[in-house]
Formats: sequence, C-alpha cells, structure tokens
Amino acid sequence: MTAQASTFAAAPVSDSAPDPCTIVIFGASGDLTARKLMPALYNLALDGRLPPRLAVVCYARTKWSNDAFREEARKNVEKYSRRPIDPDVWDSFASNLFYSYGGYDDPEGHDRLNEKLREVEAERGIGSNRLYYLAVPPTTFVDIIEQLGRARSQGATGEGWSRLIVEKPFGVDLASARELNRVVHSVFSEDDVYRIDHYLGKETVQNILVFRFANSILEPIWNRHHVDHVQITVSESLGVGRRGSYYDGSGALRDMLQNHIMQLLSLIAMEPPLAIDGHSVRNEKVKVLNAVRLFEDDEVALATARGQYGPGWVAGEEVPAYHDEEGVPGGSQTETFAALRLFVDSWRWAGVPFYLRTGKRMATRRSEIAIQFKPVPHSMFAGRGGILQPNTLVIRLQPEEYIQLLVMAKEPGLDREGLRLREVPLNLSLDAEFAGTRRRIAYERLLLDLIEGDQTLFVRRDEVEAQWAWIDAIRAGWDANDVKPKHYPSGSWGPSAAIALTERDGVTWQDD
Ligand code: NDP
Ligand code: BG6
Repeated sequence: MTAQASTFAAAPVSDSAPDPCTIVIFGASGDLTARKLMPALYNLALDGRLPPRLAVVCYARTKWSNDAFREEARKNVEKYSRRPIDPDVWDSFASNLFYSYGGYDDPEGHDRLNEKLREVEAERGIGSNRLYYLAVPPTTFVDIIEQLGRARSQGATGEGWSRLIVEKPFGVDLASARELNRVVHSVFSEDDVYRIDHYLGKETVQNILVFRFANSILEPIWNRHHVDHVQITVSESLGVGRRGSYYDGSGALRDMLQNHIMQLLSLIAMEPPLAIDGHSVRNEKVKVLNAVRLFEDDEVALATARGQYGPGWVAGEEVPAYHDEEGVPGGSQTETFAALRLFVDSWRWAGVPFYLRTGKRMATRRSEIAIQFKPVPHSMFAGRGGILQPNTLVIRLQPEEYIQLLVMAKEPGLDREGLRLREVPLNLSLDAEFAGTRRRIAYERLLLDLIEGDQTLFVRRDEVEAQWAWIDAIRAGWDANDVKPKHYPSGSWGPSAAIALTERDGVTWQDD
C-alpha cells in the first residue's frame, strides 16, 4: 500500500445544476454495469437528467475499443432497460461513452486510463471532476484505490473534485472493513466516499422516512409502550443462480443481513433526524446500529436460526438443492437462510423484540416490515364471543408497494350467536395511488445523487463498521456453538427452527 500525503479535494454538495463531471467505471465489462449502471444512466439521459457535460469512461481488462464497448452497452440497454431505446437519445448518450482497458493493479493500464481521461475532459471542456465507481469484485478494490492514490500523487487527476463509489460487500467482517476504510481514507476523505446499499435507492425504502416523519399520528405510538414487536422479512424465491462461488463465501448473514436488512432496521428504529441530509439521517441511523445488542456466544443458538435450501418446487418449477448449484462446493455449510431476534437497547425500543429473516428459494419474493402493536388492555368483547387480534402495520416494499394497517371490524349481522369480529386492512396502495408515475430503479436515483454529491442514501464509515461488529458476534456464536445450517425445502418459509424462534415468544411470522 502506497501511503498518500493528502486526500483528494473535497467535493462540494451542489445546490443548483450539477457540475460537469466524468464517471469512471472500473469493471465495466461486468454484470452490474450491464444490468444496472448502463440502463440507469441511459434512462437518466432519456429524461434529460444528466449534466449536459458528462462523460462516462469505462475500464476493465477485456480488450474492447470504444466502438466495441458502445455496441456492448447498447445490447445491454436494449435487454435490461425498462424503456426502449430512442435512437437519437442513444446516439447522443453513446457519444459520451469511452473505454480504456488494463489490469486493476497495473500502473501502465491506469496511466493509459488517465491519458484518456485528460483527452476526453479537454475535448469536451468538462474539467476534471470525477466519480470513480468500483463495479468490480471486492478483491480488486484496494488495487484500484492505490492506483488512484498514485495517479493523484503524480498530479494526474487534475484539480477538480473526486468521489469514490464502493459497491457491496464492504469487507467480510469488522477487521477487513476497517482495513478497507483505512485504505479508502488514505486517498479520499469520508465526505467523498459513497458506499452503496441499493436498498436505500428503492422508492419504498425512502418512503419509510416520509411515512414516519411526515405524519403526526405515528410518533406517539412508535415506541415500546405501544409496539409489541417488529418483523422484517426479505425473502427471495430465486436461488443463487450463477453467483454460487461468490455466495458460498458470503451466505445470507453477510449478503443480506449485514447491509440491506440492517439499513431497514435503522430506518424503522431511528429517532427523527433534524433534516433530510447526509449528516442528520446517518447520525440517527448509526445510533440505532450502535444500540443493537451484540449477541453473547451462548445466546446465539436460541436467538438465531440458520438454514440451507434443499431441492423443492418454486412457482411450479422443480429446483435443485443449494449444494448442487453451479460454483457451490459439495458439503458447503453456508447458510442461504438466516432468522434472528434482536433488541435495540434504546429509550424508545427497550424490551421490544425485532425478528429479522431472509432467505433464498423461499415460498415467495417479499420484502416487508410488520410492526405489531400491543393488544387492547382489556377486551370488552370477550364475553360476547369476539376474538381480537392486535393491530399490525405492514409496510410492503416489494414486489408490491403498499402500507396496510390491520384493524378489527365487526362483521355485519344481528349477532344473536355472538359477535363476529374480523381483521380487515386499511389499505394504502402506493402502486395504485401513484399509478401514473414512472418507477425508477434504485440505481437511477443513486447515480443522480452521486453526480449531485448528496450522501444521504449512502452508508457512512461508522454505519458499516457497526453493522459488521454485530454480524461478527453472530458468526462467532455460530462457530462457538457449532451451529450448522438446517435444511429447508425450496419453496418453503425456511427451517422449522425459524418458526420455533418466534413461537417461543408467542409470536407468529407474518406469512400471508
Ligand atoms: P462481475 O463478476 O461481473 O465483475 C465485474 C468485472 O470485474 C468483470 O467483468 C471482470 O472484468 C472483472 N473481474 C471479475 N472477476 C475478477 C477477478 N477475480 N479479478 C479481477 N477482475 C475481475 O461483478 P458484478 O458486475 O456482478 O459486480 C461488481 C460489484 O458490484 C461487486 O462488488 C458486486 O458485489 C457488486 N454488486 C453487484 C450486483 C449485481 O447485480 N451484479 C448487485 C449488487 C452489488 P475484466 O475481466 O474485463 O477485467
Ligand atoms: C444483493 C444480494 O445485494 O441483493 C443478492 O447480493 C440479492 O443476493 C439482492 O439477491 C436482492 O436485491 P433486490 O433488489 O432484488 O431485493
């Protein structure tokens, strides 16, 4: 690692038109660039949202020319964009795409890239504001950052601002995340670092903030006096697909819980931020993450469930076991499912259990938060046969987007045989309410925020480290107690241990 004397010039947060800039994408021959970044950039171009002076300079080891890369990008946009290609917009967009090849740790390749950047910036009068996007496997993050540091120390990066965008996973545990943060900060200051968690770019995830803090009726009941427990479920019906070799080194805990689910938890549990900006929102989120009680080794066996999918049927299709997936070593003990109960040790949430679960090849694809409120203190309907369910607020993030409050209502009738009470939903369908508004993929929003220098929806150093500290404690508990994943059939809701986990507390997972 080359030590750098100073960091890049600080990037100002723009409050007007975004500055001209160049997006430099490392790993541009890969899946993320093909499926998400190019379609997102193209859709922003289609809406006239990109700065008029913007270039995208792509870099990878694959030996492509500019033209070959533009052709590749077009094919991918045709395949993955939700909107078809408009030939005029495409031509103008593609004329701003450039490609340079080389190794990620290869100084010559980076020198060629810097030369290309200078050429493009000079030709287009863009200046030298740059966003460096690491769309590469994490094993190459450090090499690239070191090369960026080297280029900077040689004055090859110009006087403009520079931002670094780092994809997940940010480390594999607390020690590696700290080390990566150390390397990142040897070249970039935290104000210029954008750690991606694409869940924060999802419309409904941002809606949690609006729902909680733009409505006055919720705050008085959003606490331990009224909330019995909270459930967060992110279930996927897909398996690991062709990502078996990556996934096997990660597992559900590191792939989903460490990032997406912890972020959802922090948004649900946080105190009201002073404003919607990078400092205020992230200050409040990190307080929650630091308040999540770390597991002791001997608690882990009872407070968590670990599973791995076996063969089964999903949506009418027969699917193989995890250990038969491409790239997964035989006898793998990696979990494809994790469920657990945690506590947030804060004034607001003391004693309220949060049940989290995520898994692949589950019964259905669903991301949902359910807040179950306490039952009424005394049921005056009990003697009349009426059975009460406590109220539940369901925030469905995907595939549908809605908010439902489940409340008790009386079935119509003369009630001679007793009252018939039923749980009915008060429904707010965001899909229906905003049917005329085009849905954006998370990366459109995130790329625009990157260009404009808004860090609100990106994960800060202290957040990522708090997330890892908590994951490490679970992994240590699993190791200490030799907790192995239990098999569950594909197409189910996970292993029976996950059901036992909540039922011990008299709680049922919200599965309907
Ligand atoms: P890929 O595996 O497609 O890799 C991207 C590019 O990196 C490849 O095209 C290849 O380019 C180069 N590369 C691949 N393996 C290696 C290696 N072992 N050593 C050096 N270079 C390599 O990754 P993705 O595009 O899927 O993901 C990029 C980043 O984004 C990762 O950090 C991933 O975790 C994250 N991410 C991806 C998502 C997705 O949907 N794909 C979703 C969320 C996060 P070349 O050989 O031309 O150099
Ligand atoms: C990624 C995980 O971060 O999120 C994948 O690596 C997972 O394993 C994906 O499938 C889920 O994202 P989404 O947006 O489809 O819910």
